[in-house]
Amino acid sequence: MATPHALRDRDPQLAPPAVPQPGTIHPLWVRVTHWLNALAAILMMLSGWRIYDASPIFPAFRFPTDITLGGWLGGALQWHFAAMWLLVFNGLLYLALNLASGRFVRKFLPVSPRAVLHDFIAALTGKLSHADLRVYNAVQKFAYLFVVCDLIALVLSGLAIWKSVQFPLLRELMGGYDNARIVHFCAMSLMAAFIAVHLAMVALVPRSLLAMLRGR
Ligand code: HEM
Repeated sequence: MATPHALRDRDPQLAPPAVPQPGTIHPLWVRVTHWLNALAAILMMLSGWRIYDASPIFPAFRFPTDITLGGWLGGALQWHFAAMWLLVFNGLLYLALNLASGRFVRKFLPVSPRAVLHDFIAALTGKLSHADLRVYNAVQKFAYLFVVCDLIALVLSGLAIWKSVQFPLLRELMGGYDNARIVHFCAMSLMAAFIAVHLAMVALVPRSLLAMLRGR
């Protein structure tokens, strides 16, 4: 079996370096924007469940009231809109700083289906190195790029529902008002799946949580 170093020499996407590097793992702005985004995403999801329950797309399916936020439709809408501004402005700041600093390309690219499959199998067989938290493996790159795209889809479909008259093109791109609700629901479900997998991955490598809290 090739070592992570040998794999990396052949194809830098395939494996992170095995030797931990000193210094900061996540700069302060990444940590602050990550935690604010996580807070906003969770508040939006829980209040969104209460809003959904007031007019379910799938009549047979409702979220248990106890796990929703807002108490009633009006309260849930207030939470949803308040957290929306945090998610949009903080999310844009996270993206702008990542792109302007070159971190986005450095940390998340390149990523290919082959590398994701390779690292996924390596993860399942316990052969994926987590020694250097500075370098994301291909599965992490894919998951983080995926959730960023998913959050953008959530915001755009939400906008098509909220301001459907003011943004007719967006509404039509979503397949109409009713379809925009389904897109919004599917994007929420994918984010919920991401959160479940993300938390499991963090639990498997608890050092990564420390690094996201204190930077190293
Ligand atoms: C709820 C919505 C969440 C979203 C959308 C989200 C998204 C992300 C993204 C995009 C990254 C990569 C950040 C970067 O390097 O630029 C990341 C990393 C990370 N997140 Fe989250 N996150 C969420 C919640 C959480 C929660 C609740 C925890 C902990 C309990 C957590 C712990 C971490 C850790 C430890 C990392 C770094 C892990 C690593 O080294 O791969 N996240 N998250």
